Amino acid sequence: MSKRVNIYDLAVGGEGVGRLADGRVVFVAGAAVNDELLIRVTEEKSRYARGEIVEVLVAGEGRREPPCRYVEAGCGGCDWQHLSQEAQIDAKLSAVEDSLVKLGSLEPPEIGYVEGPESLRYRTTVRVGILDSRPAYRGPRSNHLVPIGNCPIAHPLMDDIFADGFFGEANEATIRVGARTGDRLVIGHPNANNFEMPADVLVVDKKKARKGANAHIVEEAAGVEWQISANSFFQSSPEGAEILVGLVAEWLAKQDSGEHVLVDLYAGVGLFSGTVGDWFDKVTAVESSASAVNDASNNLGSHVAIHHMEVEKWIPELADVVIADPPRSGLRSEGVETIQQTQAPHVVLVSCDAGALGRDSALMTAAGYDLDQVDILDMFPQTSHVEVVSGWVRRN
Ligand SMILES: C[S@@+](CC[C@H](N)C(=O)[O-])C[C@H]1O[C@@H](n2cnc3c(N)ncnc32)[C@H](O)[C@@H]1O
Repeated sequence: MSKRVNIYDLAVGGEGVGRLADGRVVFVAGAAVNDELLIRVTEEKSRYARGEIVEVLVAGEGRREPPCRYVEAGCGGCDWQHLSQEAQIDAKLSAVEDSLVKLGSLEPPEIGYVEGPESLRYRTTVRVGILDSRPAYRGPRSNHLVPIGNCPIAHPLMDDIFADGFFGEANEATIRVGARTGDRLVIGHPNANNFEMPADVLVVDKKKARKGANAHIVEEAAGVEWQISANSFFQSSPEGAEILVGLVAEWLAKQDSGEHVLVDLYAGVGLFSGTVGDWFDKVTAVESSASAVNDASNNLGSHVAIHHMEVEKWIPELADVVIADPPRSGLRSEGVETIQQTQAPHVVLVSCDAGALGRDSALMTAAGYDLDQVDILDMFPQTSHVEVVSGWVRRN
């Protein structure tokens, strides 16, 4: 039976939040604030429920016609195509503020918003499911595959791969392109048997991608050529990477930080070590992924010492500045303890999850750091994902 629900907020994960007649919170994908909806409940828990939209009775003011035609077909690749750009920005600002206040127990400074490079056609890496040898995305919170012939957030270098690529016997594939070099790479999971791709596309299977052997693209960003192996992390676009480096550099330039030792935690292929790292006499980069470490040793100069290990296992050394860019789970207490032991007076935290930012902020405050500046860099338009750069100063 359908139920009537008013949406009053958007949760950190991107779903709309309403209340059922019995008082439980209900999360609804594809909803906008102030929507009045008819929903079907799809998941029941004692304290909350989840539902899907049957009909939009009254549209909230932030709702719009999605620019992507696959949303109506059930694609869950982007969760906020139905929200106007203003509504997306408002929701990101309030998610970050809420997280800092409620989870971080902080009174944050005014949160800055920095527009990303492009609102569409920006992603240089996408992971797709495969249906009948053709690319597809999953539905929201489901394994149902929706065939995709053209993805409007993927970089144009992927257009002919989406339109004509034949993905043989794979179940999933990762497509990566170097926007500024034209390099193109497709990784088949678990295999790349019988793939048919444009002639310049390097095709590898999961096993070869893991070994790394020449399975990489080169991208140019911030004046550096980056080797990025099939399995290594890189930011969602070279323009986004440049803006991110610029934000970090701008905050550091405003501080009276020493320029002797930089510690780059969760260093990836070396984005920060290879850019702002040039200001420092000595840089220590810590990264757990073998392929990213291999790329970093190719990308970085000899003044960077690369430690192939988990941050939690690294023996901290004294530093002037720490830049930490952890995965979605955040720094957690182990990462914050490591930072504290470096005694760095200045720390830049790059968070890709608003909830993790709030939890890490509480830990950073307890570890003796004050929050000085927070900026959202909108690197993932059309989705609820945020990238947040925060600057922290150690209390004397
Ligand atoms: C969000 S990426 C940031 C990479 C890099 N800073 C950049 O901007 O391109 C996070 C990186 O942390 C690495 N990583 C994940 N868990 C880790 C851990 N416990 N210790 C060290 N590195 C880790 C991942 O392999 C990934 O390269």
